[in-house]
Amino acid sequence: MTEAAAPTAKHRPRVFSGVQPTGALTLGNYLGALKRFVEMQDEAGMETIYCIVDLHAITVWQEPSSLRDAIRSVAAAYLASGLDPARSIIFNQSQVSAHAELGWICSCVVRLGWLNRMTQFKEKAGKNAEAQSGGLYMYPALMAADILAYRATHVPVGEDQKQHLELSRDIAAKFNKDFGVPDFFPLPEPMIGGPAPRVMSLRDGTKKMSKSDPSDMSRINLTDDADTIAAKIRKAKTDPEPLPEAAEGLDGRPEARNLVGIMAALTDRTVEQVLAEYAGQGFGVFKPRLAEAAVAHLSPITAEMSRLMADPAEIDRILADGAARADAIARPILAEVYDTVGLLRPRP
Ligand code: AMP
Ligand code: TRP
Repeated sequence: MTEAAAPTAKHRPRVFSGVQPTGALTLGNYLGALKRFVEMQDEAGMETIYCIVDLHAITVWQEPSSLRDAIRSVAAAYLASGLDPARSIIFNQSQVSAHAELGWICSCVVRLGWLNRMTQFKEKAGKNAEAQSGGLYMYPALMAADILAYRATHVPVGEDQKQHLELSRDIAAKFNKDFGVPDFFPLPEPMIGGPAPRVMSLRDGTKKMSKSDPSDMSRINLTDDADTIAAKIRKAKTDPEPLPEAAEGLDGRPEARNLVGIMAALTDRTVEQVLAEYAGQGFGVFKPRLAEAAVAHLSPITAEMSRLMADPAEIDRILADGAARADAIARPILAEVYDTVGLLRPRP
């Protein structure tokens, strides 16, 4: 894990992160985000806040009839992965109105020139930027608001979110400077690390594993059963070479690098430790072992997710409790923001 620089002493260590409810979560979400959320929950002295970012999800079309289920399913994945509502605040973004309110203020701080550089917007919009929602363009300003509403100091995310986090830091710094309030917002530290900060497609080692890839064979979903996981790993693209002795030997072999990184992350080892075990072996040996490790790690999570999904009222209760606790932190910070900007105080 990347060690973050100590944030300013003024601000207590607080972790915030979010996942969009836009479809079944993948092994990429799990290794890049959820598994690391749990690790940070267990770190002493860290307050941890994990959000389901439904307002981000609706920047692209979401079928209303499936959005609510998708929200509950991310909540179930959080809980099944080991997040504990007694130790972390787990809630849904739209249920805490400070996100939308501070989001507007952040969109007045961000500059169009900054937004125009965002590669994720360009990727999602493709050739058709004119037809995208205004929300998709403003997405990074809302993400900054998510973090700043809690004065969060540490943000665990996968590598694809690095640029958005830099923008969040720029927004925080510009707010502090424009309003003459140094240290008002801490500059949030991205926590991007571990052996699999960017899990790649099983079909193409140069593309990110993604919920939205048209090929289901490209990803492992947290809802896949053991046979499906094994079949996807068996059919994963590889090369004919044996595994190297050192990590440099994976250069130019994106598929091999990806599978070794996944094995390392799943078994809490480094890439070097995995290579020490498999150097000289081919994928005929490695793939079945990887499938075993993936099934052993994921099947208890999948089973717990379906148990939780059978009781949506219980999930809603956990989310309502989390929203009340999140609101209690964000409201007073929002009131300070209003004071600083020169707005009248929001109603209590
Ligand atoms: P999203 O599904 O876009 O809301 O992403 C939720 C979290 O999962 C973010 O921290 C992402 O960076 C992370 N993530 C998504 N896909 C991957 C991937 N293929 N590898 C690593 N992290 C990922
Ligand atoms: N943009 C993030 C993603 O797609 C999700 C997100 C929204 C987020 N708000 C956040 C992540 C705040 C970290 C902190 O993955």
